Amino acid sequence: MIEFKNVSKDYPSGTHALHNINLKINNGDFVFIVGSSGAGKSTFLKLIMAEEKLTKGEIVVDGIRMSKLKRRKVPFLRRKMGIVFQDFRLIEKMTVYDNVAFAMRCVGASNKTIKTRVPYILKLVGLGSKIKSKPNQLSGGEQQRVSLARALVNNPEIIIADEPTGNVDPEMSHEIIDLLSEINKQGTTIIIVTHEHDLVKEFGKRVIEIHKGKIIHDTKLERKSAEDIELMSSYDQEISDDELSPLLKIDQESPEEVQELPVQKLRMLNKMAEEQTEPEKPKTKVEKAVENIDKIVEEIETDDREDLIHTVTLDPAKIKRIIAADREKKEKDAQVDSVIDSLR
Ligand SMILES: Nc1ncnc2c1ncn2[C@@H]1O[C@H](COP(=O)(O)OP(=O)(O)OP(=O)(O)O)[C@@H](O)[C@H]1O
Ligand SMILES: [Mg+2]
Repeated sequence: MIEFKNVSKDYPSGTHALHNINLKINNGDFVFIVGSSGAGKSTFLKLIMAEEKLTKGEIVVDGIRMSKLKRRKVPFLRRKMGIVFQDFRLIEKMTVYDNVAFAMRCVGASNKTIKTRVPYILKLVGLGSKIKSKPNQLSGGEQQRVSLARALVNNPEIIIADEPTGNVDPEMSHEIIDLLSEINKQGTTIIIVTHEHDLVKEFGKRVIEIHKGKIIHDTKLERKSAEDIELMSSYDQEISDDELSPLLKIDQESPEEVQELPVQKLRMLNKMAEEQTEPEKPKTKVEKAVENIDKIVEEIETDDREDLIHTVTLDPAKIKRIIAADREKKEKDAQVDSVIDSLR
């Protein structure tokens, strides 16, 4: 889950890019971010991917607090994410194939996997015939799709795309959003900045509108009130025994009194009772594992401990191997970051 709590971002130049942002994006959500040029959309994404530091408030991404995130830990966060940058950020000296393969090599994928996966993903984004081209031999739209392929190739938990359809024709835009929609159905969280209002309307997903650094619209909140409206419109219908029974749990001593309440209130209480009686979720394997290895983890630095919560398994020997592999991967990720930095 991604949570923004009273987040503001001021650039050193004095620009107040974002002001007091509060929102939640759940795992598996599909969100469009819209707003005029300079509204703060890219800044919003850059805070999530730790490319910029927030000025005030807190952002929590899958339990990681961004205000506390050290630079050397950024690659660990980025491994969860597939990012399509507004300016593509391809490596000019590499072919299309190698640009995408590089992202897989950085997470330690085998050559065999890379050889089958990269051509598959490139075909998926309609670039099967451009595998050997270099970025400067491609159109803007094609470069954008290489960037999209690179973001998809490692099956990330979250895809963050800054105008992934900004340089392609309407038909291709549609295909790209369709593709992301399909990926979303497998459980991947998708956050897309776009200017294409027709596309946004057509797909009917959650839309967050940013204007001058503030959220001025969030369809998720509107939908909630629509639910309330539905609830209100059902007030004048007769209440059934089934609906009434949870109420008796609330006030077992005097159910008669409850039955005498106005129907509206009964519905409200009914809803509350349902919420209260929701069964506690069984602990996941990972949650149990976290409890079990607490003792081992105590010996490790606090920062590393946070990392472990995301990589932990039941077997302590495995944990040690994971720590070693993780360290190696971080080093490789740092290499990628330095290449990307050098291209800026
Ligand atoms: N690195 C930076 N340093 C200083 N100011 C910046 C920086 N990046 C962005 N800004 C400013 O912050 C504000 C928000 O910029 P941002 O890039 O987030 O807008 P945007 O909504 O993505 O716009 P666009 O649709 O044109 O991409 C703008 O006023 C911009 O000039
Ligand atoms: Mg932008």
